[in-house]
Amino acid sequence: MNVVDLITKKRDGGEHSAGELKFLMEGIVEGTVPDYQIASWAMAVYFRGMTPAESTALTLAMAASGETLDLRALAQSEKLIVDKHSSGGVGDKTTLTVGPIAAACGLPVGKMSGRGLSFSGGTIDKLEGIPGWSANLSTAQFRRQLREVGLVVAAQTAALAPADQLLYALRDVTGTVPSLPLIAGSIMSKKLAAGADAIVLDVKCGRGAFMELLPEARELAELMVSIGRGAGRRVTALVTAMEQPLGRAVGNILEVREAIDTLQGGGPADFQELTQEVATEMLLLGDPELHKEHEAAGEESGRSSARSRVLEAIGSGAAFDKFVQFVAAQGGDAAAVANPDLLDTAPAVLELKSKRGGIVSRLDARAVGLAAAALGGGRQRKGDAIDHRVGVVLASKVGEQVLAGDPLCTVHAADADAARLAADRILDAYSFRDLPQEAAAEPEERVSAERDTGPGGPERPIILDRITS
Ligand code: URA
Repeated sequence: MNVVDLITKKRDGGEHSAGELKFLMEGIVEGTVPDYQIASWAMAVYFRGMTPAESTALTLAMAASGETLDLRALAQSEKLIVDKHSSGGVGDKTTLTVGPIAAACGLPVGKMSGRGLSFSGGTIDKLEGIPGWSANLSTAQFRRQLREVGLVVAAQTAALAPADQLLYALRDVTGTVPSLPLIAGSIMSKKLAAGADAIVLDVKCGRGAFMELLPEARELAELMVSIGRGAGRRVTALVTAMEQPLGRAVGNILEVREAIDTLQGGGPADFQELTQEVATEMLLLGDPELHKEHEAAGEESGRSSARSRVLEAIGSGAAFDKFVQFVAAQGGDAAAVANPDLLDTAPAVLELKSKRGGIVSRLDARAVGLAAAALGGGRQRKGDAIDHRVGVVLASKVGEQVLAGDPLCTVHAADADAARLAADRILDAYSFRDLPQEAAAEPEERVSAERDTGPGGPERPIILDRITS
C-alpha cells in the first residue's frame, strides 16, 4: 500500500477500507509513516469526514495498536465492568462521585483516566491533590484493587492505544482536533482498549466543551454509541450542558472538596443531578438485575430502581466510605478525605464582588477554566507542573440574583498578584441582565435558579439528550 495514494483518496472524498486504516495506524506506531504524511491525511479527514463504517474501522485499528485489557478477566467477576468517560469540561469532577457510588452499589469500576489540558480539567490531576494518592499502578495492583475494593482509577499508560496518542499529538499542532470521526475514534479507541464491557459517555456541549453546539454534540454522541455497539459493548451517551462550569468549584483540590460534599449528600444542585444521572446510567448498563427489570417491566421501572439505589448509596454513607477506601488503597491520606480541612489550601484568597446588581445571565465556562489554568491549576503543555491548591469557587451562577457588592466568587491563588491577574479574567466571564422592576423593589428576595430564562441559564437542563445502544 502506498501512503500517498491513501492521502489522495481521502482528499478526493474516497472511502477507506478497514485494511487501509489498519495499515496507516500500524505505520504511525512503527514509525514507517512520517508525521508530515499523517498530518496531511488528518487534514483530508477533517475536510472530507468519514462514513460510520470507516469511523468504526479507524477506532478498532487504533484500539488494536497497543495493549488491550480484559477487565472482567482481571477482576475475575461475573458482573459487567462499567466505565464512564467525559469528553472534557470545566469543574467536571463527576468521576470522583459516580465511581464510588457505582462501586458501593456492587458494580466493579476499573478506569483509566487522563490529565487536564488547556481549559479542561482531568481526573488524575484532581485526585493527585490528595496527599500520597498515586495513579501509577502495576497490572497486579490494578487487578487486586478491582477485586478487593471494586474501584480503581489509574493513569492511562503509553501502551494503551498508542496510535491515538501519536495521532492526537499531531492533531493538536495541525488544527485537526475538531473533526468528529477523529474525536470519536480517539475517545472510543481508548475506551475499547481499556476493556470495559459497558460505557457511559458524558458528551459535554457548550462554551466549556469541544462541541459548542447541540447538533454537533449529538452527532458525536451518536457516532460513539454506534462505534461501541459495533465493537460489542453496551454504550449510553448523555449530552450534557457545559455552558457554565459544573458545580461551584473549579480547581483540583477545590473540586475534590466539592466531590466529598456531594458524596455526603450536599454539593451544588447541578452537580448532584449530573452525578445521579450518570450513576443511574452506569447501574442500568452494568447491573444484571436492573437490566432484567428494565427489559421486563420497561425503561422507567428499571431507571427508577437504579436511581433509588444511587440515592441509597449516597444517603447511607456507603458511597463516601467507598471513596475513602479507594483513596487509601492508592496510597492517599484517608484522614484528609474524612476531614477535608486537612487538605492543602492556597495561600492567597481574594473575594470578588459584583460591581452591579442584576441577574447573572452568562458565565463563560471556557474563560473560567482558562483563568483557573493560568493560576497554575492547569497546564498549557503536556508535562507542565501544576498547583493543586488554586482555582475559583463560584458564589454566583447563571440565574442567580446579585446586588452591587455581593460576592461573585473567590479566587484561590499562590500569591496576591496571581489572584489579581485572574480576577480581571473572571469578572469578564460574567454577564448580567437587569432585574425585573418588581424584583428590584424587593432586593432581599432572590430569584430562584429554576425561574431564570436567560441564555445558557438553568432553564437549560443539565441533561440535553440521551442516546443508548
Ligand atoms: N478527548 C480525546 O481523548 N480525544 C479527542 O480527540 C478529543 C477529546
